[in-house]
This record gives sequence, C-alpha cells and structure tokens, in this order.
Amino acid sequence: MKPEITELLNQLTLEEKLRLLSGADKGFTAAIPRLGIPRVLLADGPHGVRVEKDVDPAGDAPYTMTGEMAATTAFPCEAAMAATWNAPLVETIGRCIGSECRAHGVSILLGPGVNGKRSPLGGRNFEYFSEDPYLSGKLAAAMVRGIQSAGTGACLKHYALNDQETRRTSVDVHADERTKHEIYLKPFEIAIRESDPWAVMAAYNKVDGEQMTENRTMLTDVLRKELGFRGAVISDWGAVKDKADAIHAGLSLQMPGPDPQPDALVQAVRDGRISENDVNERTAEVLALVLRAKEAPPTTSIDWQAHHAAAVQAAAEGMVLLKNTASILPLQPGASLAIIGEPARDPLYVGGGSSSLTPHQADAPLDCLAKDFRCVYATGWHGSATTPDLLRQAADAARTANAVLVFAAVSTSESLDRTDILLPQAQLDALRAVAAVNANVVLITQCGSAIDYSDAEPYAKAILHAWIPGEGFGTALADILSGRISPSGKLAETFPMCLENTPAYPDFPGVRDDVYYSEGLLVGYRYYDTKKIAPRYPFGFGLSYTAFALRDLRLSARTLHSNEGLTVTVEVENTGTQRGQEVVQVYLHDEESCLFRPAKELKAFVKVALAPGEKQTVTLTLGPDAFRCYLPHLGRFAAESGTFTVLVGTSSRDIRLSDTVELISNEEVRLPLDRTDSFKDFLADDRYKERAGQFLTMLHIDETHMFYQMLLGVNLYQITELLTIMGIPDETAEQMIQTLLG
Ligand code: BGC
Repeated sequence: MKPEITELLNQLTLEEKLRLLSGADKGFTAAIPRLGIPRVLLADGPHGVRVEKDVDPAGDAPYTMTGEMAATTAFPCEAAMAATWNAPLVETIGRCIGSECRAHGVSILLGPGVNGKRSPLGGRNFEYFSEDPYLSGKLAAAMVRGIQSAGTGACLKHYALNDQETRRTSVDVHADERTKHEIYLKPFEIAIRESDPWAVMAAYNKVDGEQMTENRTMLTDVLRKELGFRGAVISDWGAVKDKADAIHAGLSLQMPGPDPQPDALVQAVRDGRISENDVNERTAEVLALVLRAKEAPPTTSIDWQAHHAAAVQAAAEGMVLLKNTASILPLQPGASLAIIGEPARDPLYVGGGSSSLTPHQADAPLDCLAKDFRCVYATGWHGSATTPDLLRQAADAARTANAVLVFAAVSTSESLDRTDILLPQAQLDALRAVAAVNANVVLITQCGSAIDYSDAEPYAKAILHAWIPGEGFGTALADILSGRISPSGKLAETFPMCLENTPAYPDFPGVRDDVYYSEGLLVGYRYYDTKKIAPRYPFGFGLSYTAFALRDLRLSARTLHSNEGLTVTVEVENTGTQRGQEVVQVYLHDEESCLFRPAKELKAFVKVALAPGEKQTVTLTLGPDAFRCYLPHLGRFAAESGTFTVLVGTSSRDIRLSDTVELISNEEVRLPLDRTDSFKDFLADDRYKERAGQFLTMLHIDETHMFYQMLLGVNLYQITELLTIMGIPDETAEQMIQTLLG
C-alpha cells in the first residue's frame, strides 16, 4: 500500500471512510476536503465519452446525468471496432476517448464492455467486442491501454456473466466452472493482465444464487486472487442490494450515491457486522483510484480532427462486406445512385442506453455520397411501416439509376433484448420493390449485432454490414463504395442461417429469473464448427476488393514444452489489383484430450496492409496459455501433452494452411479415479496400475481366478460389497480400497 494511502487511512474517521465507499451523486465520488481528497467524475462510454456540458470537478455542483450532453467524438460501437481486428487502431480510439475525458473533467470512463455474446438477441451485444474471448480480451486490453495512456482510468464492465438484458437486474446465471473461465471470465483476465485497468464494474445479475455485488467468491477469490485484478470494484448503477455484504465481498465503491442510511452502516461496523479491516481495505481501493486520478497529467486541448479521422478509419475498417456478386462494388465514380431509406439521412450513429452520446461531427451518408456520385433519394418507409406510395417512389427513383443503395437499420439498446434477428418487414418490402426494377441493389445495414439475411440476400447483389458506425459513417461509406478503400472488416461474431440455429436458442433468456448456459463452451463458431452446422457468414469472414494468398507456414518448433510459446510465421501476398488489408487468423485444434475441446479456438491474429503484388511475412506468437484449458477438478488452467494442429486462415471456415506441434506437459490433467470407477479403469490407468496389482495380490487373485472377470466390471462400492461376501472384515476391506485409491 502506498504510504500516502496508509497516512490517509490513519486520519480518516470511520464516518468518512464509509462516505468514500459510496458516490456523492450520480457521477462523482465523495470528497473529503479537510484531507485534500477530491471528488472524481465517472462517466459513460465505451464508444466515446458521454458527459454533461461544462462540468467542473473543482466546484461543488452535483452531477445529475440529466443535463445537456457535451458533443464528443462518437466512435463505432465495440462490435464494429472488433470487426476491424485492428488492436492498434482500438488503442488509438482509447487514447482519443481518454483525452476527451480529461478535457471534460472525467477521471474514469465506464468501459470497455467485455461481456459474452451467447445469442444475437442480446440487447447490448453492440457494446461488446466479440463472441470469442481471446479477441475480446485483446481488444479490451488495447482500449484500456489507450484510455489510460491519456491519464483517464478505464472501468472494465460488466463483471460478469451479464449477457442479456431481460431481467438484467434479477437474473441468476448458472454456468459450469469451465465455461465461466474459458468463455466469460477470459476477456476480463486478458485485459486485466495486459492493461491493468483502474476499475472493474460489478454487474447487476446473480451468479449461482448470489448477487454479483455481494459475491465474495466472484469479487475476491476469482477477480482479485485468480485473475490478478488490483484496482477498485465499482457497482453498476443501483446494483448493490446489501451494502454490508458488498463491503465484505470486495466491492469498493457503490454507485450512485450517496448512501441513504449512512448511520446504519456506521452502526453495523460498531456492532461487528462489518469488519473494520474490510472497511479499511475497501477505502484503500477507493483512495488508490482517486489518487491515480489526481496524479493524471494536465489536460491538453482536444484534436477533434484527429479523433474524427480515427472514427472514420474505424467505421471503414469495421464494415464487413458479406456479399459482392459480380464485383458490383466498388461503384464507378460519378455513377447515378438511388439512395433508399431514412437511415441514409439520419443514421444510427450510436446505440441506445448509457453508451448513447451526442456526436461532435456527424457525417451523414447522403451528404458524403453526393460528393462522389449523382444521388436521388427516396424514403422507402417511415419508422416501422411503409405504404404503396412510398414503395412506388422508391421504385421510381431506382428504375434508371446505375445502382440502388438500400439503407437498412435495426436499432438495439441497453435494457432491451431483441426478439428476432430479421430485418424489419417495411425495409424488406422496400428492398424487394427496388430489386424488382433494378438488379444492381446494394444493401447497407446498420445494426450492432448479427442479422439473419436469408430474406434479403436474394434481392441484393452486395451486402455491407456497417454495425452502429459512429460519426464517421458517411465519409467511411463513401470511401468504401467509391473504392478509395478496400473493405477489410471481418466478422467478430458468427451470422447464423437463422435464430433457431444459434447455440443458446433453447435457453435465452432463460425461464423467469434463472438462466442456464447449457450450451457451455459451444458459443459462436465453437458451436458451429464443432457441430458442423453451416453459418450464413462465418466468424472471421469478410470480403475485399482485392485477393490474398497465404503460404509458407512455419512453426518455431515441432515439439514444445508446456511453459514455452510457439511462433507461427506465414507469408501473405496481395494477389489482386487493389491495395487492401487481410487478417491472418491462427486457430488451435487439440487432436486428443482428456476433456472435450471445441473443434477450434482462436489463439492469435494480425492485420496486414499490402499494395497489389506486395508480400509480407507475418509473425504471430502463441503463449503457453494458448494450449491450456480450464480443469474444474484442479481449479485452474493446465496443458495436456499431445498433438495440436495449428490452423491458419482468413475465417474460421477458410483455413488455408495447417501444421502440427507436439506439446510435452508434465502437468497431470486427468481426473483422479474414485469409487465410482471400475477395477478395469484402475488397471488401465498408469497412475493406479501398480496399486491394482497389489490389491489382487492381497486378495490372492490372478487372471485365472473365477472372480477376476467379475472384478473388472464393477466399481469400488460394489467391490466393497464383494469383499464383505468373501468374509473380509469391514476395516480390512476399507484399507484395501484405500490402498487402491492411493
Ligand atoms: C449500465 C452501465 C452504465 C451505468 C451508468 C447502467 O445502467 O448498465 O453500463 O455504465 O448504468 O450509466
């Protein structure tokens, strides 16, 4: 503990300490002016900072969350950022957001979010990176590094297993330990280890019957001891149910504040219901947070132009070109375009809920496209409805145009899960109406999550999935459609054939307040690829205007010890005629393992930019963690000896190269045998074989004995009964069984 914190702890009264453990209002922490402890402001993200105008942390006006919002750079949603597969770019975005925070008096940005995507129905999927824990963790780490490099703290959220909006404050999540660790805790772990976030937000839900904010196993044993978190745990807004339990569990700061019953809390400490030690530990965590904020470098002015450019770049790199029949895209400069749909004029720059913000400089697609093309516009539909008139106007606009751009949009929001993954009927009607008069239809979709495109696909020659693209949408889109930039976005979540095909379909969002993650590890491509179910567009997929060859895969070793890393090199060549970027994806397949493992798991990726004809050898590193899986009986990750196949490709379904490596591990990963196992199991297992031999000797039985065959098939409970029948006293029988078990 820093001496400064120890000193403050010595000077603070109990009342003051407890005051620090709740916010002062909806955004500020409590200040203790007599000891020079300032209040610090927490504000939403994660796609830009959402903060009221003209906040003065040095003043004493409370933060209400209802005042007029400052206009700040609106970056694409996290799902779009993930589709860039460009960690350095995500880090740059983090730095931009961090510096806007500083300029607006915000010390802690409430983001990024790293929850899972069990189902495309998840209302906040747009606020989370990927269905893959490794990709999510790596991008979150990049974003946190960026935010914190500007002197702003990041707050990873929502810890943990908070993967649906239905009953989000009361739902009780049940998942097996392996699924928790490999899928839902992994992104937190990677981000914590690689970027040391100042804070983690404890979520609204329960896990295994216990409220997250009051869950000592999750907040202390797992988050701090296992995942190595060293910062402050902040509650989601209004998530705390029992403050005393929360303090004991490891929750540093309850938000919002103030505590309505401060005296009751003081009394609880005096009565011994809350230990002073817990209070001191939590206060130290809050003080560390505040001191970090206090030490932040002075604010510099915002480089709005650079931030907007980063928003444009991320929007362009995140858009995923799903279909491009007969290379209809890019369009000829100067071509005549019919632009259909309200979202072309008034797009979904941001999603709904706490991540929503006022864009600083919004580039409307219609305005931006007009610089490159001759555009006519028709509305096509209004809200959720269309009319024969609107459809006729759209068809009239489309008839003579060189191409038709249909701007579909599906809004998604915090607090609300989707009920289907289809495009709205009015938008499909407009799509069909224009396709009936002009075959050159390009569908551009704004939606922060997966869509079932089956009803739309036959009517569109090209489909560009633009997510919730942020304020740079128009400029980015014009760059992509005109061919100035080749699309390089790749799906960070699988787009299924239909909702019914998705892994959590039977169990999302659960029954009343209980949800069972019965799909276990099989989330996203882990499910589709293991079960050999064809998705419409696979994880990692995205088209480009150019083409790439991958060749000459080399592994740094043929055999590897479990504490060593593996280096994978591969040559990438742009074999097409345009400049472009490819994402090299490395997956691992475990050829044989004592526990079930999904068919493949992403373990490394890199994005590479190449001019036509250019080649580059890229190097990717798989650390020792890449080979490990979580073993519930050991309560930790461990590696098992055996052959692993390294799969290198450009999507989970487009594996271009592969090779194998032999892993040598001296970790014992197998389950120990117990009384439910048969004698045959003991004989066949090298750990027990010798003891099984001794057991037979004690019984004077060999393979020719009439009891031998009988022994083989029965378990140790049944053997105990047999020993009794054979007249062996209970105590001796138990000793013999113990010998066998070891
Ligand atoms: C959301 C958080 C957000 C907080 C503060 C909650 O409702 O779940 O993501 O940071 O509000 O606005």
